[in-house]
Amino acid sequence: MSTRIPVVALDGPSGAGKGTVARALARTLGWHYLDSGAIYRSLAVAVLDSGLALDDVDGIVQLASRLDLRFPTGETRQVLLNGVDISDRIDTETCGNTASKIAAYGPVRKALLQKQRDFRLAPGLVADGRDMGTVVFTDAPIKIFLTASAEERAQRRYKQLMEKGIDVNLADLTSEIEERDRRDRERAEAPLKMADGAVLVDTSELSISQVVARCLSLVKG
Ligand code: DC
Repeated sequence: MSTRIPVVALDGPSGAGKGTVARALARTLGWHYLDSGAIYRSLAVAVLDSGLALDDVDGIVQLASRLDLRFPTGETRQVLLNGVDISDRIDTETCGNTASKIAAYGPVRKALLQKQRDFRLAPGLVADGRDMGTVVFTDAPIKIFLTASAEERAQRRYKQLMEKGIDVNLADLTSEIEERDRRDRERAEAPLKMADGAVLVDTSELSISQVVARCLSLVKG
């Protein structure tokens, strides 16, 4: 039954604009939204708080299978972990890098698979991540791969973090983004890559509204 519920699978590297575009798309369509990166980031917070070593795969899998997450607004990156608001913590680069490290483990990804698929609810879902089209929703009728030049992605992320009052150095941020992308692309399990049949949208020279319009035209055929 759930396989008939349409999904837009929106994948791409960090800073390509996926979150902003996916939220706008979900709002316009009146569909649900899955921020799969927030799930990996929340698990990273749980791992850091637990004191587990980042190579303790069994411990991380156990934590993942007990993960009590709530997304009260469904739109913004507001996340409750075991009832505690961790929204401010998930957006840091430490959290993103830890998420990327633990996301490389196949058993960890497997433990989070159903949690992500549970978001597939009528009338439809816009799902943003790295493996939405290749693993989680392979039958998604619309697959989009958003990308942008590395410089542009670092600039956007820099602006985003500064606006949130998170102080970062652009050169450090650029090398961290490159390192994270390399890890996400080169891992053996569910590496970041274009799904078969995905449409490539380079957002480097486009405004958010132009990207949303392009994605909407793909959804509406
Ligand atoms: O989208 P994001 O920057 O919030 O994701 C943080 C990290 O989580 C990313 O570097 C890799 C991992 N991730 C993943 O492996 N698969 C996903 N579907 C989403 C995120």
